[in-house]
Amino acid sequence: MCGIIGYSGHRPAVPLLIEGLHRLEYRGYDSSGVAFEQAGKLEVVKAAGKLAALEAKLEGNPCLLATAGIGHTRWATHGLPVERNAHPHLSQDGDMAIIHNGIIENFQEIKEELVEKGHVFLSETDTEVLAHLIGEERKAAPSLREAFAAALRRAHGAYAVVLLAPEEPGIIYAARMAAPLLMGVGVGECFVASDIPAFLPYTREVVFLEDGEIARIEGAKWEVFSLKDLSPIAKSVSHIPWDMQAAAKDGYKHFMLKEIMEQPRVVTDCLSGRLHRDGEGLRVSLHELDALPVPSRLHIVACGTSYNAGLWGQQLLENVGGIPTVLDIASEFRYRDPILRQDEAVMVISQSGETADTLAALRLAKEKGCKVIGLCNVVGSSIAREADVVLYTQAGPEISVASTKAMCSQMTLVALMAAYYGQRRVPAVKDSALLHALVGLPQLLASALPAMQERAAALALRFASARSFFYLGRGQCHALALEGALKLKELSYIHAEGYASGEMKHGPIALIDPQFPTFALALDDALYPKVKSNIQEVLARQGRVIALVQERGGKAPELAAEELWVLPEAHPVAASFLALPALQLFSYCVADYLGKDVDQPRNLAKSVTVE
Ligand code: AGP
Repeated sequence: MCGIIGYSGHRPAVPLLIEGLHRLEYRGYDSSGVAFEQAGKLEVVKAAGKLAALEAKLEGNPCLLATAGIGHTRWATHGLPVERNAHPHLSQDGDMAIIHNGIIENFQEIKEELVEKGHVFLSETDTEVLAHLIGEERKAAPSLREAFAAALRRAHGAYAVVLLAPEEPGIIYAARMAAPLLMGVGVGECFVASDIPAFLPYTREVVFLEDGEIARIEGAKWEVFSLKDLSPIAKSVSHIPWDMQAAAKDGYKHFMLKEIMEQPRVVTDCLSGRLHRDGEGLRVSLHELDALPVPSRLHIVACGTSYNAGLWGQQLLENVGGIPTVLDIASEFRYRDPILRQDEAVMVISQSGETADTLAALRLAKEKGCKVIGLCNVVGSSIAREADVVLYTQAGPEISVASTKAMCSQMTLVALMAAYYGQRRVPAVKDSALLHALVGLPQLLASALPAMQERAAALALRFASARSFFYLGRGQCHALALEGALKLKELSYIHAEGYASGEMKHGPIALIDPQFPTFALALDDALYPKVKSNIQEVLARQGRVIALVQERGGKAPELAAEELWVLPEAHPVAASFLALPALQLFSYCVADYLGKDVDQPRNLAKSVTVE
């Protein structure tokens, strides 16, 4: 997510903006910029890369006179991480500047309309379109505030946006829709920011904006209005007791926990602009794939958690998408000289877009004449640049080394791809229940997560002393079992093995004893009876079992196990998105209980850029 800060007060604005952006660097970014007004003129300075590049450009700029300004660090979602795409963006006449965090879903349609009116765009961003739209609305609106509101009413999607215009010197407007934005109320000055750390050293008095609210800031004066009709809204001021570290984690103890809890928003952002309602119901649009022929076979190649996400998606890509799909671990694929046919495609999945083995697999596939689809989270990463087409997971920066929300976004995108290919093969998607399940996911997850965290903490206390763990599952739960084992291993350093539960009889069951507990995924799907009997085999050998199950008809299933962890009823695909955070939270609670370095586990790097 981008970093946003605005200031209006009695002090030089630009140094405060730069300082605030430094405090937001942990959010991850690839370019930055500031806008300020100087003697009635609007000045914008921006740079690709780190803040040092921006500071170098500001060197010697007499900007110290400016007491109002806005600043931004960009995490690219539309358009490459280059200077022209950095924020702030200007209106057509250059008399307004905005910064923005979020995704304007209908920006293409608005852009076409404005181009018709003669607008010229300098960037590929949705933000610049919004800046031009505000400028266009200003022509008819009686005030800047009304032009701002009129433009925002047309914008669909998520935004935290801040506007600066010399026509109202020293005044900043800000608005929020489904993306965090808050005000810091100081003495004779006010801040607006995407996150508390941006201004925490200057004030702990905060006004949280809600969706559909617009704020007007002028020095110590602030007001909040409704986007709908600009009627004033009374807001309370909260005191923030956090220190800087806690503030960066939004109050969570670790980035990992924050990122697990972000998963409802991650699904929303990943679906953003890709699902549309038309006469026949819900349709998927993945325009990046339109130019590629439907592959005769799809080879999914990845590492670690990303591999597990691909394995999870295999069944959907085959059953819903109709695409024969095979999986390869990247470090194996790149050395086994695979046979690839030109009518096949390789899909590499990588959160960082920089994993050496996955990048090597991409290059090998291209050498063999195969089209490569990249599923990445980092815009402009090596894999994103070298793939023939790239689909962004839009999960926002993932800070914690243990990958959590990235897998949720990868699974969401793979499910969308399955429906997309299903749609391309037959007019109506085979399983539109799948799309409806995806639409309902953010709410389902948001309501289930708090209870999950409690249950995970209770189970962690009971099982943290284990020296080894089995994770068992069948079908899509096999991939989740592998992921659950990976999380426990990498976070708590407890040995854990993920297994297809049907494999137990072929050897592993010899290991079962009271010191070797099993985490069994027994979700409410067609394979449940099989998993149930696998659980009984483990219990018969005095193995301890945590069974992750789902309610049926409002009741927990009859299942013998030491611990039943009951998830809500849900569509079989949605059930995986409930099981995933359960596994993540269990490993998080065990590691935290054992006092491990949760966000930076020993021996691990966030991105394995070497072999
Ligand atoms: C997962 O928690 C690990 N951090 C690791 O397995 C990771 O998923 C793997 O290194 C792949 O990284 P990528 O998605 O950035 O390519």
